[in-house]
Amino acid sequence: RKAVSIPGLMSMREQGNKITMLTCYDASFASLMDRCGVEILLIGDSLGMVCQGHQSTLPVTIADIAYHTASVARGNQKALIVADMPFGSYATPEAAYNNAVPLIQAGAQMVKIEGGTWLLPVIKFLTERAIPVCAHLGLTPQSVHQLGGYKVQGKTSAAADLLKAESLAVQAAGASLLVLEAIPAALGKEVTDSLTIPTIGIGAGADCSGQVLVMHDLLGVFPGRKARFVKNFMEGQTSIDAAVTAYVAAVKDQSFPGPEHCF
Ligand code: KIV
Ligand code: NA
Repeated sequence: RKAVSIPGLMSMREQGNKITMLTCYDASFASLMDRCGVEILLIGDSLGMVCQGHQSTLPVTIADIAYHTASVARGNQKALIVADMPFGSYATPEAAYNNAVPLIQAGAQMVKIEGGTWLLPVIKFLTERAIPVCAHLGLTPQSVHQLGGYKVQGKTSAAADLLKAESLAVQAAGASLLVLEAIPAALGKEVTDSLTIPTIGIGAGADCSGQVLVMHDLLGVFPGRKARFVKNFMEGQTSIDAAVTAYVAAVKDQSFPGPEHCF
């Protein structure tokens, strides 16, 4: 296949070809996921939980993300690589830029940051300086203390209106992609229909332009409580290759996420 690019993702969205994204933290899994046709590999700060064993994503550092990004980049050939900017690394535009540079140099083609209105100057600053940005709205795990836990977001009409306004604003500020986490499926559809950039859902319904899962959840190896939006794709499969291929097929034919995975 051709290398995945930002314009390529835009055309997938226009053609209704669902985009597949998985978190990835090392070279061997990067090579496998790339071979199975996953379009985007995300070095998520979820690595703080699934790799490092922390209770949240908050302890993760830029050095941690850079290390895993370099590993993923060495295993990957065609997928687009997105690296999470960890908690505390993008509070101001200048700090965000200085912290994004080592991630891009490690092989990321885009960085992801969590938040809405307060991030608009950061998104503008990065994208004007040739660093593509993926925004992340809804359940933003770096805000766990303010949210009071990992809960579904955008349930009241005021919260839904704010999320819709922030989606349009991050797009206008220059974001190329938007991750929507744990929001009602109807809101995921409304946001997706209102934007020109692709949306990638995790617990945001089947109408997003694509889907993302944490690889450990997809493989059924994470010991914690299973979130509603998680599906163990190892069930019924005899290899990791087959599980990842089944995930790609299920996102493409829109059998995942099903109503049982949605809010
Ligand atoms: O860190 C992560 O794995 C993420 C995805 C769940 C979107 O941000
Ligand atoms: Na993350």
